[in-house]
Amino acid sequence: MPDVTIKTRENGPFLVTGPVTLIDHLGNQYDISGKENVALCRCGASSRRPFCDGTHKSNGFAACELAPQPPAP
Ligand code: FES
Repeated sequence: MPDVTIKTRENGPFLVTGPVTLIDHLGNQYDISGKENVALCRCGASSRRPFCDGTHKSNGFAACELAPQPPAP
């Protein structure tokens, strides 16, 4: 099975790498064929949602969630 990686960009989008199918809540499928990466908006301000258009760089978006760290040994 091919690998899919989802990486958070600091105060930016989710960067999705690998073969995925992107479908919105209405069941509409986005044509992302041929793309190795897609950046999905996390700030909610993109004019190209669900894709990032770079607006997060100028709107003060600050992502506060981090993956929990393992407990110290
Ligand atoms: S995360 Fe880039 S425009 Fe929203």
